[in-house]
Amino acid sequence: MIIVTGAAGQLGGDVCRILKEKNIHHRGIDKKDVDITSASAVDDFFADTDFDVLIHCAAYTAVDKAEEEKELCFAINAKGTENLAKVCRDKNAAIIYISTDYVFSGEGEKPFETDDEKCPLSVYGKSKTEGEKAVTELCEKYFIVRTSWVFGEQNRNFIATMLRLSQTRNEVSVVCDQVGSPTYSNDLALLLTEMAQTEKYGIYHATNEGFCSWYELAVKVFGYKNIKMKVTPVTSEEYITSARRPKNSRLSKKSLTENGFSLLPPWEDAVERYLDIK
Ligand SMILES: NC(=O)c1ccc[n+]([C@@H]2O[C@H](COP(=O)([O-])OP(=O)(O)OC[C@H]3O[C@@H](n4cnc5c(N)ncnc54)[C@H](OP(=O)(O)O)[C@@H]3O)[C@@H](O)[C@H]2O)c1
Repeated sequence: MIIVTGAAGQLGGDVCRILKEKNIHHRGIDKKDVDITSASAVDDFFADTDFDVLIHCAAYTAVDKAEEEKELCFAINAKGTENLAKVCRDKNAAIIYISTDYVFSGEGEKPFETDDEKCPLSVYGKSKTEGEKAVTELCEKYFIVRTSWVFGEQNRNFIATMLRLSQTRNEVSVVCDQVGSPTYSNDLALLLTEMAQTEKYGIYHATNEGFCSWYELAVKVFGYKNIKMKVTPVTSEEYITSARRPKNSRLSKKSLTENGFSLLPPWEDAVERYLDIK
């Protein structure tokens, strides 16, 4: 049996849908079932539930708000992950922990390898790094899957924001000096369900293929949807946010191919499939 945390979230929702489509026995859980920050609640919840793999998609994901809510962010992403990692260890189950490009400094222009030094710039990035540490220290059967710039059905993502803005504005400024890979949660979820059925444990990077800036992504969205919008490129220094974000979010996907997993489709293709159903 597979447990999916964050089942009401963007990625967890897609993972559950795909497991259902594949007829794989699973249970999706969210905050209403168990608050992962409470060790005793987690232990009680899993006392009578056995499982083989836990796909851990639950997280505190409000990157800017995290700068003010550091304690809550760490309670969910670090302590919450530790609580779940302990249960997986005790039940001899595998854990798939979803992590992020924000564990890296974003310096340079080369894609980050899975074993590159971690140097998070934000509270969120630091909390996810702590989550990784808990998983590697407590578990033997683990996958750490770092992804980036996720978009999915739930309208809590950059593309959905651009579409929303286009209803009230005809001009928008978008950051052009942060480069990474947009990732369709549906494509990532397919890979995660495939991984869950293997024992190819390790650290992976998984995003749609190719790189672009947020500016290029916005231009692609408006162009594909034939929306008339003036998009002005701005630098990170001009577009101030509470949390610092990496300028280079390129992730090397070597570990996927080396372990026989297929690369995800190009980001342009993923964005078009997403926009076709929007
Ligand atoms: N979104 C991105 O661009 C992105 C990029 C890189 C990596 N990631 C990682 O990908 C994973 C999935 O992200 P996502 O976009 O699907 O996130 P999401 O939509 O924000 O979903 C996270 C889920 O976790 C739940 N949750 C929060 N606190 C909890 C708690 N204390 N106990 C139990 N459940 C709790 C949330 O419930 P509530 O909504 O009720 O709080 C929500 O359903 C996360 O690990 C994230 O760090 C995301």
